Amino acid sequence: MSTTIDHLRGQLADDLRTAGELGDVEALRVKYLGQQGLITGVVRGTDFSTLDADARREVGKRISGLKTWAEAEIGAALAEAEARAARARRRGMVDLTLPGTGARPGSLHPVTQTQMFLEDVFQSMGFRVETGFEVEEELYNFDALNIPGDHPARDMHDTFWLEDGRLLRTHTSATQVRAMRMHGAPLRAVFPGRCFRCEATDASHETTFHQFEGLMIDEDVTVSTVLAVMKALLEKVFGREVTVRLRPGYFPFVEPGFELDLQCLICGGAGCKVCKRTGWVELMPCGMVHPNVLRAGGLDPERYRGFAFGLGLTRLAMMNFSIPDIRLLGTGDLRLMDQFPAVL
Ligand code: DAH
Repeated sequence: MSTTIDHLRGQLADDLRTAGELGDVEALRVKYLGQQGLITGVVRGTDFSTLDADARREVGKRISGLKTWAEAEIGAALAEAEARAARARRRGMVDLTLPGTGARPGSLHPVTQTQMFLEDVFQSMGFRVETGFEVEEELYNFDALNIPGDHPARDMHDTFWLEDGRLLRTHTSATQVRAMRMHGAPLRAVFPGRCFRCEATDASHETTFHQFEGLMIDEDVTVSTVLAVMKALLEKVFGREVTVRLRPGYFPFVEPGFELDLQCLICGGAGCKVCKRTGWVELMPCGMVHPNVLRAGGLDPERYRGFAFGLGLTRLAMMNFSIPDIRLLGTGDLRLMDQFPAVL
């Protein structure tokens, strides 16, 4: 008898060790303590009439001891399996009453922010936005812009040439003739985008940078249109009255070409550190579109005239956000980006 009891104890202990799920433990309860269960069977199968009083007491005690032990062990295993199941259920649930962890908001790159702002201003004045192509044909980047193969201006554009004869555009002016051919005249468009030049890098030079080109073509565009439109645009950009002036400049695709200066917004023209005591800040090159360029765009230079300007978008973003080194902008370092949360 006692070997049966010891054996059952051992067997149940083994069974409990491998029963992980609530259902397994419940099955063990039935197996040992159910009506047809093994322990119940021992109680039922013992013929107490063959035992004397002492033995009867002894056997009765041992059997009920086993039963009590089994009930406690199985009960504890049931409770534990139930708690485990509840924990697993909770893991799959969303508790809306818990305090949130707070999603980290992303931010737009300072150049993107500046670009979007400028696009809004220009679009409000009827300009369309064309991004053009970063991989460009020699024709659009140079020849159609009055920069033939032997033109010295090509030396200024340290070009990344591709094996198939195409190139990475060196300036957004490359989109001018494409836009003329696509949309004809009259035309008002801006061309923001990434440009590439194979040059040594330093705090203000990178092989990759952004420009923001503008083009306006109509029958009655003159140099005074350049001044009027740029003044109006810059007033929208800076939110205050500005004074601009033109100085002569040279670019093969404009004639005449200019440098547009902005009267220093810090000192109002009196002269300060920012404007190097001149009262003026050089802002962007521009000019009247060269007749050859209009012709390349399929437009009649006798009928249409245009002006174009090339804004250094990266440079403007750096000025706008006081970023001291252009090389920081290409790193994608979130510690930098996080400092310029987008105002959308
Ligand atoms: N594309 C010129 C550059 O990258 C900048 C420029 C000059 C653009 C004069 C213009 C312009 O539209 O009229 O150096």
